Amino acid sequence: MNRVTITRPDDWHLHLRDGAAMASVLPATAARFARAIVMPNLMPPITTTDLAAAYRSRIHAALPPGISFEPLMTLYLTDTTSAGEISKAKRSSVVHGIKFYPRGATTNSASGVTAIENCREALAAMEQHDLPLLVHGEVNDPDVDVFDRESVFIDRVLAPLLLRYPKLRVVLEHLTTADAVEFIEQSRPGVAATITAHHLLLNRNALFSGGLRPHHYCLPVLKREKHRRALLKAATSGNPKFFLGSDSAPHSLQAKESACGCAGVYTAFAGIELYAEVFAAAGALNRLEGFASFFGADFYRLPRNAERITLIDESWQVPRQLPFGNETLAPLRAGGNIGWRLASA
Ligand code: NCD
Ligand code: ZN
Repeated sequence: MNRVTITRPDDWHLHLRDGAAMASVLPATAARFARAIVMPNLMPPITTTDLAAAYRSRIHAALPPGISFEPLMTLYLTDTTSAGEISKAKRSSVVHGIKFYPRGATTNSASGVTAIENCREALAAMEQHDLPLLVHGEVNDPDVDVFDRESVFIDRVLAPLLLRYPKLRVVLEHLTTADAVEFIEQSRPGVAATITAHHLLLNRNALFSGGLRPHHYCLPVLKREKHRRALLKAATSGNPKFFLGSDSAPHSLQAKESACGCAGVYTAFAGIELYAEVFAAAGALNRLEGFASFFGADFYRLPRNAERITLIDESWQVPRQLPFGNETLAPLRAGGNIGWRLASA
């Protein structure tokens, strides 16, 4: 049996939700990852340091006893975020990034940014205080094909932004295209990207295999096989600009299996195992630790974790459904198998 022991990883892009739903999904992440960058797209969104600190306390209170896990909070950027709020966020030392959702681009982005030009004051403050900007990199223009939204965003919004703020540190979240990989590879220092397990595992055929597959629908939407291969190459390259961000985004079964199903794939239940499977299949298990445990911490200027975890090459069956507050959800690969499991500590 094959085993691999790595430094305990971190998840640099995670949706934990709130309340009973959070209590259902948080233990899975905390059992695997030491820290996670927690997305602020609650209803209403986490737009201030005070809201982030309160949300952080609720996460700590919902942790199973004896489990060490540090939520790294983010603020939701709006057209009216002030420079004062940014400097307050930096001073708090609980906020580690500011999330830019183009308005209407994804789940709970109705309060997002209408035009990034409206955020000049906040962006200048982030550059000054060295607080990273975390980017949902998709335009939301009805004229732009849904599969092209990331590439168009890079050309129209991200490239000019990086020139205008040469010291601003930026994470382009959940890469989905070869274009984005190339852009990140060629970008200046201080620009990095996260890659999800589901975008490494699936191409867009997974949305339509034998019928419509709502549990494979997420944003940015899955892309062609050539793009999946480019992501896999980037993730397993050892280039520190690419690191783990699961974008585990739980929604209830009812919200997914609907005439207008929500975007989001739930992967936190096997948050490191799915990556181990992908890296092993690519013959790159020796690159997993850098991607999962080192490069993100280095980018965020946080210490690397000291504990270690062990993963075992042993298949197990994924439950068809998992509890989600008063409801249930369908995890990725529900009813199927995952090739790697986490050894109990
Ligand atoms: C996320 C969610 O459900 O909050 N959904 C998703 O498809 N990834 C939002 C996001 O990260 O875009
Ligand atoms: Zn997300």
